[in-house]
Amino acid sequence: MNLRTILTFPNPVLRQKAKEISVFDDSLQSLISTMIDTMYDAPGVGLAAPQIGESVQLIVVDISKEDGEEQKSMVMINPTITEKEGKQVDEEGCLSVLDLTASVKRSKKVTVCYQDITGEKQELTTEDRFAVVLQHEIDHLNGILFIDYLSTLKRSLYKKKIKKTLAAKK
Ligand code: NI
Repeated sequence: MNLRTILTFPNPVLRQKAKEISVFDDSLQSLISTMIDTMYDAPGVGLAAPQIGESVQLIVVDISKEDGEEQKSMVMINPTITEKEGKQVDEEGCLSVLDLTASVKRSKKVTVCYQDITGEKQELTTEDRFAVVLQHEIDHLNGILFIDYLSTLKRSLYKKKIKKTLAAKK
């Protein structure tokens, strides 16, 4: 297993716009397996490359069904949301945002265009919880965190709390 440290807010890498991937080689393959290992170790249901300090457009998501089925993941390279429909509100958390979950309003149904591990173009339409996960992870590639959708008050309370925690660690 190849594990990497997950960066947390307010690390500036989390705020960068990730670069598009154009080379589909062995080093991309190994970055992908590191991300999958790191996601399951956390454990999480999704991970974006900037979260381990690689500012490139790559996400991995868990697609295993519940009830103890074998872990199954999916890789999306250069993903973009091309269609959105409806609204849903769901509870979100993030491996890069410690000690916080909150309700976030997202699209109910999304279509995502992306490239697979071989560089082949693919398209996926999905809804409900999986659509939330995809919107959350793709946001990471644009430097957006779920706390950006909270009220100014909630967000500033959270920033204060994190500042305190960091100061206490020094
Ligand atoms: Ni996240």
